[in-house]
Amino acid sequence: MVAEGFEAGGHNGREETTTMVLVPAVCTTVNIPVIAAGGIATGRQMFAAMVLGASGVQMGSRFVASIEASSHINFKEKIINLNEGDTVLSLKKLTPVRLIKNNFYEEIKRAEDNCESIEELKSILGKARAKKGMFEGDMDQGELEIGQVSTLIKKIQPAAEIVAEIKDEFEQLQKQPFN
Ligand SMILES: Cc1cc2nc3c(=O)[nH]c(=O)nc-3n(C[C@H](O)[C@H](O)[C@H](O)COP(=O)(O)O)c2cc1C
Repeated sequence: MVAEGFEAGGHNGREETTTMVLVPAVCTTVNIPVIAAGGIATGRQMFAAMVLGASGVQMGSRFVASIEASSHINFKEKIINLNEGDTVLSLKKLTPVRLIKNNFYEEIKRAEDNCESIEELKSILGKARAKKGMFEGDMDQGELEIGQVSTLIKKIQPAAEIVAEIKDEFEQLQKQPFN
């Protein structure tokens, strides 16, 4: 079972339950292995997830800025330059998604704040909005799905290097005594 907190990039739950709260809650409720997701991009965060009771982790955002990812270079460069607060859980009335605040997001927010109908929201969203942003590189009008943890992602790297970094950090922490 995957337990994903609302820090996560992309499609998400409506409740704003964080990974820190959700993972231990799920782990004490089920008798099957739990995979933690949402806000995990480093070995340290992976270690923390294990301490919370998870058997493994699922990472999305960290790999969007990998060399191998099919995401557009504009999107990868945007990700490595984000600051805290630059992503938000949006489209709660339609299909909740964490994305980067851009002009598309502002338009959707205005419509939601004005209590526009679901049909109106759907028409603003239109078709292939995520493709326009993440694959075609329109940083202004596209839907740019990424998690809060993007603030920790500072360079575009090969996937193997990302995995090695995470593994090394995790293994170092396993050796470290905690008091
Ligand atoms: C660009 C992007 C697209 C995603 N698309 C989906 C999706 O279509 N459906 C889904 O269930 N999760 C989706 N996710 C969530 C991931 O499967 C994963 O659980 C999540 O990214 C983990 O949190 P993190 O982004 O903090 O690493 C997406 C994540 C990203 C970053």
